[in-house]
Amino acid sequence: MSAARYLEESREKVDQALQSLMPPEDSHPARLVSAMRYSLFAGGKRIRPVLVLAASGAAGGREDDALVPACAIELVHTYSLIHDDLPAMDDDDFRRGRPTCHRAFDEGTAVLAGDALLTMAFDLLSEGGQVTGHELRLQMVRELARAAGWRGMVGGQQVDMDSEGTQADLPTLEYIHTHKTGALIRCSLILGGLSANADESTLKALGNYGERVGLAFQVVDDILDVTATTEEMGKDQGSDAARGKVTYPGLFGLEEARERARKLVQDAKAAVEGVDATGRLAEIADYVLLRRL
Ligand code: IPE
Ligand code: IPE
Ligand code: MG
Ligand code: MG
Ligand code: MG
Repeated sequence: MSAARYLEESREKVDQALQSLMPPEDSHPARLVSAMRYSLFAGGKRIRPVLVLAASGAAGGREDDALVPACAIELVHTYSLIHDDLPAMDDDDFRRGRPTCHRAFDEGTAVLAGDALLTMAFDLLSEGGQVTGHELRLQMVRELARAAGWRGMVGGQQVDMDSEGTQADLPTLEYIHTHKTGALIRCSLILGGLSANADESTLKALGNYGERVGLAFQVVDDILDVTATTEEMGKDQGSDAARGKVTYPGLFGLEEARERARKLVQDAKAAVEGVDATGRLAEIADYVLLRRL
């Protein structure tokens, strides 16, 4: 199966699983559920859940065992986008090809829809799916909590916000990117590995790949904010410059930023050479580099 086909099929599986796990549109409280569904089913790339499935496959796991953790990650990611777009943060009007959650509903509802998606992720992870063994399940909950929380994504978002309009140095920029984006992407690989009950050395290889691909993903996100169009990305172009964000193209220029992303992807592929028998993880790393969305 080609890489594009694999990504498409995996996305469809994730979407189906999400549909079956989410409350239906008319559930009470309807405005909240409708806002949750509005942002979740707006056509995200689903790269994080696809990475969960691919990591599980590389570690010899069954895809069905990885689907619930995959969905949990996508719920956390979608919550982070809803809050990231709020006027108090990046103040963006357009996301996943439609008005942002707070534009389509209202700010209060967007805050709550994000809260509800985040908490639902842990509900799912703690009880859902096929993975047997309380110890493994607990480990997944812990990994996700750490990746999403103050030492992970939320910490990165704080430094991102605090650094607006400043001339940050490379350590600060790296902190922002590895935390706000890298942490959850790395966690996708770890959850996939755990759902396959992978051994320590496999988890380590997956984690190393995840760190590099995660950072590369945000470097490319910064590049696209400059070079892609709003239509291509489905979100506001030029938002970083407008807010004085600290970015790779801002610090290094476009060419050097591209070179760093290329190098990270190369290192990511090297990190899983012994694990990635089908080459799926390598293909996904290449996709991260070449994407226009
Ligand atoms: C956007 O993530 C926010 C970042 C962390 C860079 P994605 O580019 O994965 O957004 P969707 O899920 O496809 O909408
Ligand atoms: C988003 O970074 C990171 C999180 C949402 C945690 P950005 O602010 O660069 O993401 P976009 O460009 O709005 O998607
Ligand atoms: Mg942001
Ligand atoms: Mg943003
Ligand atoms: Mg961005």
